[in-house]
Amino acid sequence: MCGIVGYIGEREAYPVIVKGLKRLEYRGYDSAGVALRDGGLKVYKKQGKVADLEEYTVGKDLHGHIGIGHTRWATHGEPSDRNAHPHLSNSGNLAMIHNGIIENYAQIKQELVNKGYTFKSDTDTEVLLNFIEDIQINNTCSVEEALRIALKRVVGAYCILLISTDEPDAIIAARKGSPLVIGIGKGEHFLASDASPIIEYTKEVVYVNDYEIAIVRRNELILKNLGNEVQTPFIQKLDMELAAIEKGGYEHFMLKEIHEQAETVHDCLRGRLLPDQGKIIMSGIDNHLDTLVNAPRIVIVACGTSWHAGLVAEYMIEELCRIPVEVEYASEFRYRNPVVNKGDVIIAISQSGETADTMVALESAKEKGAFIFGVVNAVGSSIARISHAGAYTHSGPEIGVASTKAFTGQLAVLTMMALKMGYAKGTITSERYIHLMQELHSVPEKINEILKDTTAIQNIATKYKDAEDFLFLGRGYNFPIALEGALKLKEISYIHAEGYPAAEMKHGPIALVEDTLPVLFVATKDTYYEKIVSNIQEIKARKGMVISVATEGDSLLEDMSNDIMYVPEIDELIAPLLSVIPLQLLSYYIGIERGCDVDKPRNLAKSVTVE
Ligand code: G6P
Repeated sequence: MCGIVGYIGEREAYPVIVKGLKRLEYRGYDSAGVALRDGGLKVYKKQGKVADLEEYTVGKDLHGHIGIGHTRWATHGEPSDRNAHPHLSNSGNLAMIHNGIIENYAQIKQELVNKGYTFKSDTDTEVLLNFIEDIQINNTCSVEEALRIALKRVVGAYCILLISTDEPDAIIAARKGSPLVIGIGKGEHFLASDASPIIEYTKEVVYVNDYEIAIVRRNELILKNLGNEVQTPFIQKLDMELAAIEKGGYEHFMLKEIHEQAETVHDCLRGRLLPDQGKIIMSGIDNHLDTLVNAPRIVIVACGTSWHAGLVAEYMIEELCRIPVEVEYASEFRYRNPVVNKGDVIIAISQSGETADTMVALESAKEKGAFIFGVVNAVGSSIARISHAGAYTHSGPEIGVASTKAFTGQLAVLTMMALKMGYAKGTITSERYIHLMQELHSVPEKINEILKDTTAIQNIATKYKDAEDFLFLGRGYNFPIALEGALKLKEISYIHAEGYPAAEMKHGPIALVEDTLPVLFVATKDTYYEKIVSNIQEIKARKGMVISVATEGDSLLEDMSNDIMYVPEIDELIAPLLSVIPLQLLSYYIGIERGCDVDKPRNLAKSVTVE
């Protein structure tokens, strides 16, 4: 969380930084700021979105060829002008931005206060900055040296960019646990939390590693470790087009990303799923098939929407591979001293590949001898890099804060994985294997069918936009989809929503049912169909309003429901890939009806790089 951008070169830094911050706003958007070096340091910052900063800077002196900028997701200190980054040190000689959390900031702050330092903000960032300044003064050393000494004392996660009046031609950066990419141009460098602000200027990038410090000048990039040893930068070519991070005619990224799903699922399956040849080719699995198939158990670790994909995978892997699976919230798993044995397989699911809780959970499981398999969207991200093996979802950059296309990408990868493992293990017949491959292969076309006409969903959104609560119910493979539907609605429209297993509803949520409560059933034709029909009757008997996601042509549910959304018929194991789509659209349209900022819902951030 928090987006950071830096520029050094011939261009005016301010427009490059502001454009970059807009691309990174999905990471946080409660305040924004820039620091420009032009002789001295000029700092402009404002509570609110990047657009508020732009308005605030109209008419101000924005000249400078070196600059750093920040869009914030508050951790220490409420969103406000004074807590916005960049911060200036007590002398005014250093300006810094930071993504992450300094855990031992209180102790360091006390030491600095005792020495007479004063603080304008409540942030841990300002503490680290003045700590660096104090070291620099006491040791009469360079900023770089002071930073290195400071970081040895710091506990926590950071990606920081520093500019200084003492270093007229440099941005100094460091990272541990929060991402940093450096774009290499001709006589210029770009620094950012991810590649999206860089892509239109250069495709040559270096991903900075943990515990590295980068000294970035117009024509020079030096990487060092905390022991002051020079590291060789590994230059990579970005495989991303500018169009992928623009709205492409859609009003919002979320809508664009929902509509991209036929294509992104197709991209995910392409070259891997080969039903005609009866083969699934995934090198991350092929190279480790024995480890995966013989795992005594599999633990899936994830957060948010990715955790819901993990629940679907649990059902699939247990059914197809007969391996016990547990699905864990990464934030719980990392702290509760879980039993992890050598040979256990941990599947980490993450769109961003940077979620702090998931990262740390993996690191500790890895230390205990587990085999780590990453299902990640962001190529080259931290989770992808620390995994022993993995499979990318190839969904392309996801900008809308609420995850949509990354989720269907995750389901596609996990389905192929379960199928491949089950077939190798001999726990599914070849008929079922081929049938499921064909069903999975039909998904992109069926997604297109759902997206062809969304009028019915828009009408339902208009009808229920003023609801105060929503209940989402599902059984079997559709239970995690009920959870995901509720999460999407909460995130996007701020309507309170709960997801529940449909049968479990009798043990609590049924008490909420009255004639004003919309109850959404994910009730496609599957093994549990008759059971869920009974659950619908139970809601109707209590006058709840029933909205169903049903299989095309289901007239029984049409009669029973107040409103209905259809998805094409498909095997129940693959059904989540389709049944989630109307729920994504419903949340989107309800959010729009309620005037919500659907791409940037309040308080959320796309990439949660703090615990
Ligand atoms: C945040 C995002 C969610 C996402 C979750 C996990 O909460 O807003 O959309 O599902 O993080 O992120 P990851 O990148 O690890 O999938």
